[in-house]
Amino acid sequence: MDGNELYINGPQRMHGELLIQGSKNAALPILAAAVLGTGIFILHHCPRISDVEHMLEMLEDAGCRVKWEGHMLIVDTRYLDNYQVNGNGAGKMRSTVTLLGSILGRMHRVAIPYPGGCTIGKRPIDLHLKGLEQLGAVFEHQEHALVGSAQRLHGAEVYLDFPSVGATENILLASVLADGMTTIHGAAMEPEIVELASFLRKMGAKVRGDGTPVILIEGVKTLHAAEYIIPSDRIVAGTYLFGAMMTKGEARLLHVPMAHLGNIPKLLQQMGALVETEEDCIYVNMKRQCSSLPYVVTAPFPGFPTDLQSALVAALSTASGMSFIEEKIFEARFQIVPELQKMGASIASEESFALIDGNARLRGARVEAKELRGGAALIMAALAAEGETCIYGMEYVRRGYEDINGDLKKLGIVI
Ligand code: EPZ
Repeated sequence: MDGNELYINGPQRMHGELLIQGSKNAALPILAAAVLGTGIFILHHCPRISDVEHMLEMLEDAGCRVKWEGHMLIVDTRYLDNYQVNGNGAGKMRSTVTLLGSILGRMHRVAIPYPGGCTIGKRPIDLHLKGLEQLGAVFEHQEHALVGSAQRLHGAEVYLDFPSVGATENILLASVLADGMTTIHGAAMEPEIVELASFLRKMGAKVRGDGTPVILIEGVKTLHAAEYIIPSDRIVAGTYLFGAMMTKGEARLLHVPMAHLGNIPKLLQQMGALVETEEDCIYVNMKRQCSSLPYVVTAPFPGFPTDLQSALVAALSTASGMSFIEEKIFEARFQIVPELQKMGASIASEESFALIDGNARLRGARVEAKELRGGAALIMAALAAEGETCIYGMEYVRRGYEDINGDLKKLGIVI
């Protein structure tokens, strides 16, 4: 078995307790934000995943010094001196795009490799650039790099046509050191936006309204270093919750901020699970086959998150009856369907819809992880399947799951 393949013999019943890793989608914009302040940052509970490693490479390109101590990350931005960041893996990775706003905000110049798209969609950044241009930035599209500059960054009334998470983050990052007031209308309300704003406030920024569609920023002159605890990853937690559902098992997930799970606990109850929640712990117990769901649509927070859509498709493949899912965030996010069909699932998907005829008895097969969240969902499906499943393409899963083998072992699974 090479590092990129995972073999699971099913069916197995998930049972156990797990402390959930730090959030990829909170850590990445927070790391980008550190560029805006001068000093030594301490970030606790930071996930050691490849996307974070790539971001750190780019911060080092910019002149930052970074050091891991377990899951604590020390980032020294006192020697920041280069607005051109490259990082040898960055081209592949989407999340470096948030460096646009922060490096521009700090240095008034930025050059990043074109952010990699990925298989879930073309991932344009038009909303990012339009917002940053309203703050005074000018962009030049070079062959392999996107170069931005701004004589002066000034506040503006920015209206987002869509509550893009990344665009909201980039505009927020470029506005905290700009002259005057910025208002972001139609802002994303994801928990990661609130975490980023909280981190910026600890650095001395003046930000209000995060978590609502209108975010107000008053530019300040300088920002200082801060210490922060990265919240646990709501998508990693949700992945394992669906794994417990599919294996008629039980799981107690610790250190999960309930507010970040939105309507997921209620949806699990609709599927027939016993769900108990405290402020940062969720327990789920599934004693029978999941019930199907007549219609689920993915939506910006607090709607059902697109990042858990694949795990839901996998769980509903084994549920009793027909389920219908509409994917409204990304244009190509049903990559998992042909792989689940290899395992015996009965799903018809067309553009942004999937019709799932449940009651499938999944059987082991050799399946491909084509992107991060689909790969993780296939691993959950393998737990419920009869026989051996080989998942290859594990490098995609490692982008967001720090130690899925170790996590599953703690949840009573034999890999
Ligand atoms: C963030 O991506 C997350 N990534 C994604 O998680 C998540 O799926 C997504 O938000 C939605 O919640 C990180 O936080 C690093 P968007 P982002 O901008 O910011 C379109 C994962 O698996 N759009 O809200 O790229 C875009 O094409 C990843 O962890 C434009 O058209 O998401 C998409 O269809 C996958 N123009 C939709 O908006 C723009 O300028 C949502 O994108 C920007 C986005």
